[in-house]
Amino acid sequence: MLDKLGEIEKTALEDLRSVTDQAALDAWRVANIGRSSPLMMVFAGLGKLSKEERPAVGAAANRVKVALEAALAERAEAVKNDALAKSLEEQKLDVTLPGRAFNIGRLHPSTQQLRRVLDILAEMGFQVYTSPEVESDEMNFQLLNFPPHHPAREMQDSFYVEAADRGDNPILMRTHTSPGQIRAMREYAALNPKDPPSIRIALPGMCFRYEQITARSEIQFNQVEGLAVGKGITFTDLKGTLIDFAHRMFGQNARTRFRASYFPFTEPSAEMDVECFVCGGKGCAVCKNSGWLEILGCGMVHPVVLQNGGYDPTRYSGYAWGMGPERQLMLKNKINDIRYFWGNDVRFLEQF
Ligand code: DAH
Repeated sequence: MLDKLGEIEKTALEDLRSVTDQAALDAWRVANIGRSSPLMMVFAGLGKLSKEERPAVGAAANRVKVALEAALAERAEAVKNDALAKSLEEQKLDVTLPGRAFNIGRLHPSTQQLRRVLDILAEMGFQVYTSPEVESDEMNFQLLNFPPHHPAREMQDSFYVEAADRGDNPILMRTHTSPGQIRAMREYAALNPKDPPSIRIALPGMCFRYEQITARSEIQFNQVEGLAVGKGITFTDLKGTLIDFAHRMFGQNARTRFRASYFPFTEPSAEMDVECFVCGGKGCAVCKNSGWLEILGCGMVHPVVLQNGGYDPTRYSGYAWGMGPERQLMLKNKINDIRYFWGNDVRFLEQF
């Protein structure tokens, strides 16, 4: 009997070693010191033992019971500490770690520049007028005084959307914002056909050309067109407005110059340059040693264009210009490749 008790104790203590959680502890207790455990069976059988045997077995059984209870208590404490350590481990917070940076979204540099341009023009009294990106040949070219097959069209090779069965009037992606001039004039003229109101608008938007993509030319880019139509508007107004714009955009000390040029929809036509802000006019690679950077094309609205818009050229005159926000940003920030704009490289975009 004493051997059996020794065996019970040994097995119980061995089993206890593999107990690591509360559920196993409970099961161990039931199996080893519970009512129907082998140990309790020994206590229950004490009465059947001889008088001589009883005291020794009783004492030994008691010792085993105390030993198992003590072992259980110790194990229970260890399990509790383990659980605590584990939960501390899981929830540990290292306050010395660097914070997690989160990225703040931003507007595309083209959009930022477009808005800057429109803000300035708004201060100068020009209202935004938007017109479609998909145009007819008539709007994009013919009404702007480009006859069909006119060589000036080659300045602006087009993406055609629908050419079949439309003869000389295919549908295309607009190559410039100038067709908006016709749309705007017609809309304003319709308000009072006999005496149309004067116009002062900015026409922003994406333009598309079928070009070889290089560092200097892209197949899409933004333009901002300006248009003023009214009675008694002269080339002096055009110059004053554009010089004022250049000062607001590039700084009050920015020097400008106008050069004669040609566009079918203006007469006379000019291009405006600003003094190169990279070299200060001395001549460098950016300005190709001329000291000047071309920033826009402009001119007095051609009488044919006024007529096509519903404005009588004998009573009305106007000026217009077209410029590229991406080009302005390139000049301002010495960006040497226009492909960055639509390349979607965050290393470029994040700089603005
Ligand atoms: N539409 C011309 C282009 O894309 C730019 C331009 C030049 C617009 C002169 C004008 C203008 O309104 O008067 O090259």
